[in-house]
Amino acid sequence: MKKFYNKKDLKGCLLKYKSNNKTIGFVPTMGALHEGHLSLIKKAKEKNDVVVVSIFVNPTQFDNEEDLKKYPKTIENDIKLLESVSCDVLFSPSVEEIYAKNIVSKKFNFDGLEHQMEGKFRDGHFDGVGTIVKALFEIVEPDKAYFGQKDFQQLQIIKKMVKKNNLPLKIKGCPIFREKDGLAMSSRNTRLTEEHREIAPFIFKTLKKVKKKFYKKEISEINEWVENQFKKQPLLELEYFTIAEEKTLESAETKESNKKYRAFIAVFAGKIRLIDNIRLKN
Ligand code: PAF
Repeated sequence: MKKFYNKKDLKGCLLKYKSNNKTIGFVPTMGALHEGHLSLIKKAKEKNDVVVVSIFVNPTQFDNEEDLKKYPKTIENDIKLLESVSCDVLFSPSVEEIYAKNIVSKKFNFDGLEHQMEGKFRDGHFDGVGTIVKALFEIVEPDKAYFGQKDFQQLQIIKKMVKKNNLPLKIKGCPIFREKDGLAMSSRNTRLTEEHREIAPFIFKTLKKVKKKFYKKEISEINEWVENQFKKQPLLELEYFTIAEEKTLESAETKESNKKYRAFIAVFAGKIRLIDNIRLKN
């Protein structure tokens, strides 16, 4: 695997691939890699000649100083994992290399997607995501880029950014990868205490029950049921639960047969914030 720490050297290497008509698949990450990331890389390997992975903990997308400071950094293990799935190129720049001295995000308009769910609770988060993902796309110039559906709102926002800016690449959303007990894989899971780790699968168990209820119950009844479930669970604090339409991400009050819905949830397990979602069928 080739490793690059600055844009110029990376671009030089990618230019050679591109001039030989090789297609580039790109998987942006913040490191602390797990099976979920590896599944994106495997998918990118299947569909492209060359796979580039970036590892960059992007400061401008964190709304919480402590979360940024404590974000797990496991670069040596990450490199081993990347080599185990035959990743071709790693790009791991410093904050200065990306932002120079101006560590601020640009302002984006994602047609309202940014104001829903995560946007209500994480001030400026999607401006930070938009800034780094656009910058990385401009550096790597991939043919396709791969993102997990765990961050479904992020995925929709990136698709919107690509469309609005006519960026010449395709965005691929990939299924959520879960631990055996159902907990959605996340780099933050390693920061859970033992007791929070034990109770965390309750989140996906609840979502699976929501999926069953969605066939026959009103949305308002389901919302109330979920809130009550979490009230009985002292180790988990529900931040939000909502059933939203996939396209607009607006919370739904009634079901319409021509629309696709998902249930979205954010929960604090102690100090660690976990998110998850599930596709619903009406
Ligand atoms: O999903 C993530 O890990 C990050 O938000 C991303 C897309 C790598 C941007 O920093």
